[in-house]
Amino acid sequence: MRDRRTMPLGWDEAVDLERDPAVVPDPAEVEVPEALRASITAAMQRYPDRHSAVLPALAAAQKVHGWCSPEALRQVAAVMQVTPAYLSSLASYYDMLRTEPIGSRYVYVCTSVACHVRDARAVYEAIAQEARDQELEDVEVRNFECLGACDMAPMASVDGRYVGPLSEDDAHELVAAVKENREVLPGRGLGDEGFRLPWEDKA
Ligand code: FES
Repeated sequence: MRDRRTMPLGWDEAVDLERDPAVVPDPAEVEVPEALRASITAAMQRYPDRHSAVLPALAAAQKVHGWCSPEALRQVAAVMQVTPAYLSSLASYYDMLRTEPIGSRYVYVCTSVACHVRDARAVYEAIAQEARDQELEDVEVRNFECLGACDMAPMASVDGRYVGPLSEDDAHELVAAVKENREVLPGRGLGDEGFRLPWEDKA
């Protein structure tokens, strides 16, 4: 038996050599929601090689199913005409694609370098603690690599909406708003009307 402690994530299960090899699904045998099919097709049309559309296609399927479930992979595979195994190899590599049903909502707190030097770890821990205290359910709360919005560090992505700069003091309200389905920190989202970084006013 392999020593799980020394194996990287995803390499701890033996391949079942008795199973039939995965094949490209027959499109006639797989029901795909029309809107999902349209998203995948539109993504494929943007690239000369359809394989380049895998990530937007998986993201679209994740939106519909909440995660990259076997059924979601099968639907994408049927439209793209690739094997589910090919999709699975990508879904298990990219952090933003979920291979387990964790809930379709999320709070990703960036703890990469620019955010880290502005106390992102403390912000993340405060949010995680609030999530436990407020018994937040069906929302994935985790720290994350750079989300590409370093100038608003420390920041978080709440269901794709970027908010920041954050402090530990924001944790309670942020979690409460997520729990109550309210807008999180109005005016402090990157796309919010009039959004400005505090240091822009000092420039
Ligand atoms: S380091 Fe946090 S967004 Fe880039």
